[in-house]
Amino acid sequence: MGSTDKRIAVLGTGKMGGILLQAFLKQGLFSPEQITATVAHPERAASLSSELGIKVTTDNLAAVEGADIVLLGVKPLQIEELARRVAPRLKPGAMVLSIAASTKLQAIEEALGGEVAVIRAMPNTPAKLGAGVTALCRGRWVTEEQLSFASQLFQAVGLSVVVDEKHMDAVTGLSGSGPAFIYIIIEALAEAGVNVGLPRDIATKLAAQTTYGAAKMVLETGSHPAVLKDEVTTPAGCTVDGILELEAGGLRITLLKAVKRAAERARQLAGN
Ligand SMILES: NC(=O)c1ccc[n+]([C@@H]2O[C@H](COP(=O)([O-])OP(=O)(O)OC[C@H]3O[C@@H](n4cnc5c(N)ncnc54)[C@H](OP(=O)(O)O)[C@@H]3O)[C@@H](O)[C@H]2O)c1
Repeated sequence: MGSTDKRIAVLGTGKMGGILLQAFLKQGLFSPEQITATVAHPERAASLSSELGIKVTTDNLAAVEGADIVLLGVKPLQIEELARRVAPRLKPGAMVLSIAASTKLQAIEEALGGEVAVIRAMPNTPAKLGAGVTALCRGRWVTEEQLSFASQLFQAVGLSVVVDEKHMDAVTGLSGSGPAFIYIIIEALAEAGVNVGLPRDIATKLAAQTTYGAAKMVLETGSHPAVLKDEVTTPAGCTVDGILELEAGGLRITLLKAVKRAAERARQLAGN
């Protein structure tokens, strides 16, 4: 996506809001003059402003003034209240993007009142390195053009996919929590490397790059993971012995249950 002439307000520029904002700036999607960001604490506003070279305030109402896109980056419990407060000052036709984990589109739409275009997005933390994945779902007043613009915005930090809202808790359990699951797998592989005699730093590098390489193979060849696995697995070779241990240890079913539990928890937090 090239640069746009739209103005964006990021309300709640914490970890995730900050990651997104930095990516937008780095990729030149918005110039510093097109961005206003807010936080809760004046001292953080000052430090963030000098760090990023953009206007950062604690005044949400002033920030949304004239903004074409309003990104809500506060905690889920604060979203509705914030939406209600800024609604009267929204520019007509403005699009609201919420990254809150569990707040429903309908709740945000009702808090905003009127026919405001609202999109929910669930990014994950590898967005920090441009390797995130974001699932988006659209509210009832969103046009195709707005959805496509929002998808392109999130492509600044990795891949983006569009799903029905009913899948957002599943997304939270898989790609939202997923990085933590994969870190544990990498840590365990590295530990295993140490166990078979490798220095820890080399074992960690091998484990991480192997995970990265395997993920890249799945994404870029489009082959089914099972086909790629079969390609590595020589009859009566070493890999198949390892696979037997993985199956005996229940890795597959454990990951399945982990994502299921995380998705259920997301649903619980959303009050569904
Ligand atoms: N972290 C993730 O991996 C992740 C992934 C997907 C979605 N999300 C979603 O992203 C949202 C933020 O999460 P986070 O991890 O980035 O939290 P965070 O780091 O605590 O960020 C929250 C930010 O909101 C600011 N804030 C609080 N009240 C405000 C108000 N009334 N007006 C303006 N700003 C206000 C805080 O300001 P101060 O800095 O001054 O305290 C802080 O910068 C959540 O809804 C979460 O569900 C997070």
